[in-house]
Amino acid sequence: MESSRLVAAGKRLRLGVMASGAGSNFEALVAACQADALAANVVQLVVNNPGCGAAQRAQRLGIPCQLIDHRLQPSREALDAALVDCLQEQGVDLVVMAGWMRIVTPVLIAAFPSRLLNIHPSLLPSFKGLDGVGQALAAGVTLTGCTAHLVNEAVDSGEILIQAAVPVRVDDDHARLRARIQQQEHQILPAAVALLAQRLVDQG
Ligand code: GAR
Repeated sequence: MESSRLVAAGKRLRLGVMASGAGSNFEALVAACQADALAANVVQLVVNNPGCGAAQRAQRLGIPCQLIDHRLQPSREALDAALVDCLQEQGVDLVVMAGWMRIVTPVLIAAFPSRLLNIHPSLLPSFKGLDGVGQALAAGVTLTGCTAHLVNEAVDSGEILIQAAVPVRVDDDHARLRARIQQQEHQILPAAVALLAQRLVDQG
């Protein structure tokens, strides 16, 4: 991780994270920031599911967490507009979708051009969409993995930043394979944030 340490003209990046579930990737980002492997701070978590694991981790870690429940929003665009308001209010530089299980719209994508990342549990372009782990098992592949990529308007189709390969073992079930993929996600997601941040610095 040291090699991907971000030196951004002395400025620590302000990260926003969006999560729907357990939040292990969110916590990996916070840990990378705290260990100074990433010259950034997670300044805001947004969750859409009340009481989800990510929200509980935020409380334990002392990271501000905002609930924006998609069930209370009239449309995907309204949900994304509320996300943009919250993240912009906190002056966020980059946004990471760390297990965000909603399809996003141009409202969010246009607010953070080339600054919106996603982590997906497959070697894209294979197994886009829901349950990338289950899709890989059903297809019988012997190699799968995870991908950190930019978000564009087509699901799981933006520019790939970093991937990690994970062999599928003959005795794998969904939980075992998912756990090994997630170990890799926790490595490549902070590295992808550093890569993207450095690119933004280089571009001026
Ligand atoms: C991660 O494995 C991530 O790849 C996946 O959700 C999990 C969230 O875990 N995301 C997707 O499937 C998006 N299509 P976490 O809440 O423990 O970080």
